[in-house]
Order: sequence, then structure tokens, then C-alpha cells
Amino acid sequence: MDTTQVFANNQKWIAEKLAIDETYFSDLSKGQSPEFLYIGCSDSRVTAEEMMGAKPGEFFVHRNIANMVPNNDLSAMSVIHYAVSHLKVNHIVVCGHYYCGGVKAAMQSADLGILNPWLRNIRDVYRIHRHELDKIEEEESRYKRLVELNVQEQCLNVIKTADVQKAYIERNLQVHGWVFDVHSGKLIDLKIDFPKLLGQIMEIYRLQ
Ligand code: CO
Repeated sequence: MDTTQVFANNQKWIAEKLAIDETYFSDLSKGQSPEFLYIGCSDSRVTAEEMMGAKPGEFFVHRNIANMVPNNDLSAMSVIHYAVSHLKVNHIVVCGHYYCGGVKAAMQSADLGILNPWLRNIRDVYRIHRHELDKIEEEESRYKRLVELNVQEQCLNVIKTADVQKAYIERNLQVHGWVFDVHSGKLIDLKIDFPKLLGQIMEIYRLQ
């Protein structure tokens, strides 16, 4: 696709929206009150809204390499704060995906420059779950499991924030861990036991 095509597509999209609802864009401009915060990977194959059939206004979205939530990342932390405390979302989703280049890179011995500190967070996930991962002999299965465990650890990082703990107490905010399977297109719920995880986390990370 070239940039000319992008602007042509945009005109077509506007016409399609207005044909169905002539106040579509004026309604959108009034504001947003999404129910979900979605934290996913920047991977071009894993579109947030399209795979979930979501419309503009429904998902507040944050994407970075390998759907990470590092506690010192100003961008991720600002997104969580704004979504939880101002937009009042009731669900936070961390969505990883199989065949994630970021996770794969973290499984290999290579100096990737500025990516090193970012991917180190995934190496930490490997270290925490080394006992389980090292038992998986087949590399692709180990890689897939690391994708899932990384989602789980990033959910923990979400729960460690004061905003999320406060919103859980006040309005029962929920945190979900999902994985998108690029090979089948399927969205998989890892069924992370949020109350149990929160209980464990709160023993050490309670801020409220
Ligand atoms: Co990825």
C-alpha cells in the first residue's frame, strides 16, 4: 500500500460511515467512554479493533513491543492511569500473541542495542518461570508458553499499580490475560484467576 492509497481509503471509509449514520463523526467528537483498556503488541498482524470486531470509542489502546507493562515506563503507566482514573474503564486486557518477534528475540543470545533493556523484561519472565519452561523440550511449545507467561506477568504488573488496586476496591475493575493466535486468528482467554492473583500480589505490593 502507498500513501496515496491510504488517503483514498480514508475518503471511502468516511463515505461509508456517513451513509449509515450522518451524525457518526459529530457523535464521535463528543468524547469517549470506553469500557476496556487494551494493552497489546505493536505487531502489524495483531490489530486491536479488527480482530475483536470493536468500533471506534470502545477500546482505549496501548501497544508496544511484546505488550509489556514495565513499572518505570512512563508511557504505559500514563495510559493505565488515564484509562483507569479518568476514563473509568472497567476492564484491562493484556493481549499477547503467538509468533511474537519480541518474545522470540528474548529467547536468543543477541545484542540488539536499545532493544536490550526492553527485552530484558521478557528475559526476567523467563528467569522467574525457568523451572517450567526448561522442561518443555520442543522450542515452539516453549516459545508459546513464554508468550502466555509474559502475558500473565504483565497482568501482575498492571495489578501492582495503585490506580488499578483502588479501582478494584471501588468498582471491581477486572484484569484479563488473552493471547491472539496469528496462525488461526483465534483469540484465546488464558483465564487468569484475577482475584487469586490479586490476593497473592497484595501480600507484597498492596498500596491501598
Ligand atoms: Co509481538
